[in-house]
Amino acid sequence: MTSPRGKFITVEGIEGTGKSTQFDFLTDQIEQRGHTVFRTREPGGTPMAERVRRILLDIDQEPIPEIAELLLFFASRSLHLQNAIVPALARGEWVLCDRFTDTSRAYQGSGRGLDMAQIETLADWVQGDIEPDLTILLDAPAEIGLERAKMRGDADRMDSQALEFYRRARQGYLALAERFSERFEVVDASVDIAAVQVSIQRILQNKLFSNLD
Ligand code: TMP
Repeated sequence: MTSPRGKFITVEGIEGTGKSTQFDFLTDQIEQRGHTVFRTREPGGTPMAERVRRILLDIDQEPIPEIAELLLFFASRSLHLQNAIVPALARGEWVLCDRFTDTSRAYQGSGRGLDMAQIETLADWVQGDIEPDLTILLDAPAEIGLERAKMRGDADRMDSQALEFYRRARQGYLALAERFSERFEVVDASVDIAAVQVSIQRILQNKLFSNLD
């Protein structure tokens, strides 16, 4: 007997929206329901995709043209999907992924201004018919996010963008939430951690747990 396909959940948001904290909370919530959680991230998630992550995020290196950046994100995504995500879903595990294609849409598309139609072509090519079942967008104004991220103080190459970039990325995310309203849930991440967690619990209950457990 084959196990039922697991659920594919992605967590999105600009810097400083509390993704890591809420990622741990989501893991606990899903595990408490008795599911095996496969935690992963983009760029990265397999040994080779993690090497691509270093190319993308390390600071001391030659300049990366925007098109090369986009293609590298999708190259690492292809490795990640085929070598980690698809096998985990087939084992019946619930895949919890820190960022996915929506980051490319928001950062490379809305942030950098690359052609969204070309991004969609890459997304179709790399993903085929694999889409997240649920995407949780942690939303906060770019000013708040950047202030929090600055306090963390671990800036990589992507973190050195201007405030305007993150404003555009945030608006891009909110537009995606409308466009893909069936899978997106927007959570106000400008409030305190406990309040964000209450929202996340409600989303899991309504969107995933109620019709499965
Ligand atoms: P983080 O996951 O630790 O935040 O680091 C990943 C960085 O890479 C973050 O700044 C967002 C950026 N990124 C893109 O620009 N496009 C993408 O498709 C992905 C997955 C990440």
